[in-house]
Amino acid sequence: MTKYALVTGANKGIGYEVVKQLAESGYEVFLGARNEELGKKAVESLGLSKVTFVQLDISDSRSIQDSVRTIEGMTDHLDLLINNAGIALDFNIQPSEVKVEMLRDIFNVNFFGTFQMMQAYLPLLKKEKNSKIVNVTTDMASQTMFDNGEVHPLNILGYNSSKTAVNSLTLSFSKELGSAGPEVLGVTPGFTSTDLNGNAPGGKTTAEGAEVIVQYALSETDYHGKILNYNGIIPW
Ligand SMILES: NC(=O)c1ccc[n+]([C@@H]2O[C@H](COP(=O)([O-])OP(=O)(O)OC[C@H]3O[C@@H](n4cnc5c(N)ncnc54)[C@H](OP(=O)(O)O)[C@@H]3O)[C@@H](O)[C@H]2O)c1
Repeated sequence: MTKYALVTGANKGIGYEVVKQLAESGYEVFLGARNEELGKKAVESLGLSKVTFVQLDISDSRSIQDSVRTIEGMTDHLDLLINNAGIALDFNIQPSEVKVEMLRDIFNVNFFGTFQMMQAYLPLLKKEKNSKIVNVTTDMASQTMFDNGEVHPLNILGYNSSKTAVNSLTLSFSKELGSAGPEVLGVTPGFTSTDLNGNAPGGKTTAEGAEVIVQYALSETDYHGKILNYNGIIPW
């Protein structure tokens, strides 16, 4: 049976490379992008017949519902949902200085957007026995690792806590779904130089960051409810 994957925020960065690697692994991939022009350009530059553009702004409930209907018109099931879209607006702003409006904007995409994506796509994912949801997160969202100084000490409350909340989504949905599926896991690509961090030097390439996500997306090991980095399970 044909395998189908949907990747959000895939017109550039890590998501774009995840689309490429999944298509090269044989998946029919829906490349989600909020901007139609950028999304179509990305599909064109990949030049892979297995990739289809889908308009998808995860901060917009209607856009999410429309994307479900569009995808239902092309497949009766979904094997993989990669919740990759994300924003980080508060780099270099201390918690005592960040504006509540900015925190709301970050949570609106990273947390509420991912939450709505999970709810909206469950019916299509439930049609396939071995389906998975991969929520892209960061090791800076691990309270244990942040507290122990095991991660970059960037104290960006909005971004980090929104991803901690995404980790809670991963755990909560996995507890509800149990063994019925889909499997739900969180994966951090590790520091990758992208627009998100102003292409800060010293990070992985987007292909390397994407590889970590794709490796777990295609793994046959059960990681239901776990948060993972390239090395394996990381603490909450
Ligand atoms: N880079 C790192 O070091 C790193 C480390 C750990 C985790 N991550 C995570 O990896 C994921 C990908 O990030 P990246 O580094 O590849 O960043 P990026 O290059 O900035 O890409 C982010 C993508 O998300 C999209 N996006 C933003 N808001 C959206 C919305 N409301 N609806 C749909 N798409 C939206 C962007 O679209 P536009 O082009 O339209 O803005 C873009 O396609 C994020 O979840 C990020 O938190 C990154």
